[in-house]
Amino acid sequence: MPRILVTYASRFGSTAEVAAAVGDELTAAGFDVDVLVAGPQIQVAKYDALVVGAPSYGRNWLPDAVLLVMANAERLSAMPVALFTTGMLGVKNPKSALREHEEIVETLREHAPGLNPLSTALFHGSFDRDNLPFCLRLLDRMAGTPRGDHRSWEAIRSWAQHVGELFADALNETGTNAAPRPGEQAT
Ligand SMILES: Cc1cc2nc3c(=O)[nH]c(=O)nc-3n(C[C@H](O)[C@H](O)[C@H](O)COP(=O)(O)O)c2cc1C
Repeated sequence: MPRILVTYASRFGSTAEVAAAVGDELTAAGFDVDVLVAGPQIQVAKYDALVVGAPSYGRNWLPDAVLLVMANAERLSAMPVALFTTGMLGVKNPKSALREHEEIVETLREHAPGLNPLSTALFHGSFDRDNLPFCLRLLDRMAGTPRGDHRSWEAIRSWAQHVGELFADALNETGTNAAPRPGEQAT
């Protein structure tokens, strides 16, 4: 059974929950899935395909996820990869948020030139101003970041199912054994 790593960075936990939901869908599709926080302990070589996700903070992914991509650039260029970003900009301004997400992916590709994700996605995140230190809370009051949990579990799960299909096709093409066909449960 192909092994998939869903790895993520998260400051306040909402992206970790998105990663877990992506992992659940890939498991339901018949893959052997680990969901792990991004960091130097991650051994990408153990996996056949990879999903990397991170929230946008100041128009950039959290550094742990960027570092994981940089540190594994060569390996990532030779395996199926999907990327997702979470953020709040899109709640009020979808076009700007999409541009921001595309710039993030472009920057990742500069860090890891062979990176060619099969799919990328931007999801609304979750934001609670009370989590911020006092000075940032004041700054944020001016920035007007939308508050609350805006994650669409339907969008997240539907993207994860799509990624499962893309991974199955890619792994079958490269001859990785027993990649589940879409809709087929591995036994
Ligand atoms: C200081 C700060 C900066 C942020 N910058 C951005 C940003 O540039 N773009 C965006 O879409 N969301 C931004 N957000 C919203 C976060 O990406 C969002 O709340 C995300 O869901 C947090 O994920 P986490 O709970 O995994 O840390 C920012 C939030 C904070 C607190």
